[in-house]
Amino acid sequence: MAHGTFHIITFGCQMNVNDSSWLTRALERRGFVQAALEDASIVILNTCSVRDKPEQKVYAALGRIKHLFRNNPAAFAVVAGCVAQQIGAGFFDRFSYVRLVVGGDGLAEAPDALVRLCADRHLRLNLTAFSAVYPERDPALPKGSLAHAAFDAPSADSSLPVVLPVAYVNIMQGCDNFCAYCIVPYTRGRQKSRSATAILEECRAFIDNGAREITLLGQNVNAYGQDRHAVGTTTFAQLLREVAALPGLARLRFVTPHPKDLSPEVIAMFGELPILCPRLHLPLQAGSDAVLTRMGRKYDRARFLELVDALRTVRPDMALSTDIIVGFPGESEADFQQTLEMLDAAAFMSSFSFCYSDRPGTAASRFHDKIAPAKQALRLERLQAKQEQLSLRWLQGRVGCETDMLLEGVSRKQTGAQESWQGRDPWGDVVNVALPAGVGAPGRLLPVRIVTAKRHSLVAEVLLSDGEKQTQAFSV
Ligand code: 5AD
Ligand code: SF4
Repeated sequence: MAHGTFHIITFGCQMNVNDSSWLTRALERRGFVQAALEDASIVILNTCSVRDKPEQKVYAALGRIKHLFRNNPAAFAVVAGCVAQQIGAGFFDRFSYVRLVVGGDGLAEAPDALVRLCADRHLRLNLTAFSAVYPERDPALPKGSLAHAAFDAPSADSSLPVVLPVAYVNIMQGCDNFCAYCIVPYTRGRQKSRSATAILEECRAFIDNGAREITLLGQNVNAYGQDRHAVGTTTFAQLLREVAALPGLARLRFVTPHPKDLSPEVIAMFGELPILCPRLHLPLQAGSDAVLTRMGRKYDRARFLELVDALRTVRPDMALSTDIIVGFPGESEADFQQTLEMLDAAAFMSSFSFCYSDRPGTAASRFHDKIAPAKQALRLERLQAKQEQLSLRWLQGRVGCETDMLLEGVSRKQTGAQESWQGRDPWGDVVNVALPAGVGAPGRLLPVRIVTAKRHSLVAEVLLSDGEKQTQAFSV
């Protein structure tokens, strides 16, 4: 039964992207149809509150779409995600057309709630209670509209099977760390690990649907299984082993680990499991011990560098990326210099960097020695300039390397007679390759040689065996 049309606008992290992707599938299963914003009768904002002025952004977005509800009394808006969790029913007071507010734990119930809201125009629902265990969602498995599709216009024929080479699977929700700057423990609640059985089942379903690469997702993935709410006794290292053993899987990644929970067992997995990619996003946040202590990160620079060494001992080709906050309260020029030094010492291939911003309820929001925004901005610029050099050095170092790339889709830019395809190498670099028509297919793993480093991506040529060169027949 058709209930109406919907459009999801997603802000924030990969977990939100993944939540939107699941919600899309779950709604389609219930007969809802994805539509362009102007044609949608349900507009869903999946929100993030980790940085900047997220509430204001959501209020502004709700203001911009107000006209959609003026002439269509059946149309309404939904606020999901972290800002929904933070503000809750407050949205009902400010916006007459918001009829559902739903947090991370409540999302599992959102599709059925939307069916009810469509049936009863006077109903408003608030699903922002935290649950005691990982809220398992109905297995709305992929049918052909993965994450990216959630933001594009719906395909003309959504029943066409589409191969989804790269999949993301949640393994836990929430966080118990309460880093001084971070709002996540308040918006996503306490850490709750998902059962290994459910994780493996979802991974298998993605693989059956064409996935060759899986990224395991969570706010603190490597603390998997260590919470009171964990179902079963599987450790993170065991989970990696079990997922890596699934037939048909070519690449495995995970994000985001916390340095304090990076155990020797997990580090050893990078040596033991060939499909575990040699790339780790390991948030450093700051390079000064004084700042790390005030942040409550529970490691110091020496410990972080020990981890870097240990990782590169088991996987000499290990590439690391990171998150950095500049201008944390009390950060001196000398503290900041130490962060710059750490970028060199760990040789990060890339980093996401942010100016510290106060988040309501966090410990750091009550610290006194705040850094002026102009000073923060200058430090951010200096940090990003340094990272730019390191990233360029990394990409240039890839030239000549023979590796494989997982094809994801045709490149946006097409040049020459051949077809240009885009994919990623095991280190997560974006790689473009020109292929004769008919050779490329999403999910195909191609042996390539990197020939050029661009500013943010690589260009490769496909490696052919002698036989293939003679016949020009491609079989990869
Ligand atoms: N201010 C600035 N950056 C923040 N992050 C989290 N909270 C804040 C904050 N209050 C950054 C951290 C984290 C990333 C997801 O966002 O670097 O790793
Ligand atoms: Fe936030 Fe720290 Fe938890 Fe990461 S580990 S989500 S930074 S509280």
